[in-house]
Amino acid sequence: IYGKGRRNSGGVNLNVRSQYQPLMDAMAGFMDKAYSARPLLAFEVATDPANTHEVTSPFDRNKRVGSVQWTSAEQAARAVDAAWAAFPRWDATPVAERAAIVRRLGDLMETHMAELMTLCSREGGKLLTDGVDEIREAVDFCRYYAMRAEAMFAEPTALPGPTGESNELMLSGKGVFAAISPWNFPVAIFCGQVVAAAVAGNTVLAKPAEQTSIVAHRVIELLYEAGMPRDVVQLLPGDGPTVGSVLTRDARITGVVFTGGTDTAQIINRALAARENAPLPTLIAETGGMNAMIVDSTALPEQVVVDVIQSAFQSAGQRCSALRVLYLQDDVADRVIEILEGAMAELHVGDPRDLGTDVGPVIDEDARRGLMAHIETLKGEGRLLAETRLDPRYTANGTFVAPAAFQIDGIEALEREQFGPVLHIVRYKASELNKVIESINGRGYGLTFGVHSRNESFADEIAQKIRVGNVYINRNIIGAVVGVQPFGGQGLSGTGPKAGGPHYLLRFATEKTVTNNT
Ligand code: NAD
Ligand code: ALA
Repeated sequence: IYGKGRRNSGGVNLNVRSQYQPLMDAMAGFMDKAYSARPLLAFEVATDPANTHEVTSPFDRNKRVGSVQWTSAEQAARAVDAAWAAFPRWDATPVAERAAIVRRLGDLMETHMAELMTLCSREGGKLLTDGVDEIREAVDFCRYYAMRAEAMFAEPTALPGPTGESNELMLSGKGVFAAISPWNFPVAIFCGQVVAAAVAGNTVLAKPAEQTSIVAHRVIELLYEAGMPRDVVQLLPGDGPTVGSVLTRDARITGVVFTGGTDTAQIINRALAARENAPLPTLIAETGGMNAMIVDSTALPEQVVVDVIQSAFQSAGQRCSALRVLYLQDDVADRVIEILEGAMAELHVGDPRDLGTDVGPVIDEDARRGLMAHIETLKGEGRLLAETRLDPRYTANGTFVAPAAFQIDGIEALEREQFGPVLHIVRYKASELNKVIESINGRGYGLTFGVHSRNESFADEIAQKIRVGNVYINRNIIGAVVGVQPFGGQGLSGTGPKAGGPHYLLRFATEKTVTNNT
């Protein structure tokens, strides 16, 4: 499929272009629109130029997207008052009404797909193809959680009554949830958190990532259009430590649903634990990964490379699920690396709005600098195996990192998650397999994992032994589908609930048993 020196980039697959053309035409109207986002709270917020930040595009810092006014600590505290006051009313609202609002949001996001995709691209640097997946996933979350809420919350579950009494188990909301989200899925994860918490009967304070507040603002505008009361879901754009710490220190916050870095989850956990006279909180944390793939000598090298390229470099490697460490059995390693080298030479890095682009920018200059420091260290050690070339004609004004693959000795060599297009490759001998599995498990993360092998029992055995949330056999390791591949990790990768899974809403609910002796 990919060969060393084979040239296939630059030309756009005509079939793909014809599929996307109507969307691209619709997106054109939003390409230059200037947006102005602000806190969307239960009360009016005065304009505050001193607290307003300019937003530009990661692929070209000369291109302005708009501005966003951040929430002050005082406004965040008042928003908690409003959410606290609204909770009993919202929790008593029939679940069918709550679900109908969430479903309407799904419909509205579909109608506004072109605008939301444009914002994902302009603000978050997403490729068009990633943008489609992103909005579809958000719509799926709305429909799936609405359906699950109606199935779980509408009627109490009747329990056995062996003593002659009747027993029922009923579900309700827990209280006020803070929903704190990352920039890498600025619509899907942001929206998934908010609608899960709200449809279960909680009021919600949504804190989007600093980098992607404008698209979050647009989603909450659509949510209000769908009928969500303003005191039930409020939007608090702003700085993580400022807004986040007001929320996580307030004794009235019953739960936090968080997606982001493992270090940030630990800060939040400590803040929640330090509260005095506060109810014991719920923390749903979905965090980073150091995801591995094991390839044995029976695997098909061409297929391995297709899946590795997607897993490591799609979304510029900025997925928690992305492949970071590829373990290649010695017998097949040279062949896989040779094809990989050819494939990486073909990747086109550039403007995410161009269908010929394979890899877009990383989110900002801090991210670029961190990744470049890591890359320079590995290059300095002579560990480079393959890389993609950056062409300044397409990358000069943005924050781009060229995909690169390096040989390392083992997953232990990596201090932290490298959140970008950097792949690490380890060669192993068949006799070392158990050691490989132990070191992957021993690293402490547990999000995604892949195995490529045509030996079914080998693949099944590894899948059993590896301690992660999502295992993929003979395919790529990204792009979990709502309701089909419930997603979430363990250990340093999260507290375990599976987003898009049948049990997720239980984490947002209180269970009450009612025994009636009448
Ligand atoms: P981040 O941890 O820097 O930020 C996430 C959110 O936390 C942002 O909204 C930020 O403002 C907020 N925040 C920062 N400091 C805070 C504080 N002291 N108190 C409260 N909130 C605070 O993460 P990021 O850079 O936005 O996202 C990338 C990370 O997210 C990666 O580690 C990635 O693996 C992880 N991620 C995990 C999943 C998953 O499902 N497991 C999905 C996507 C991303
Ligand atoms: N759910 C996203 C994926 O599977 C993070 O890639």
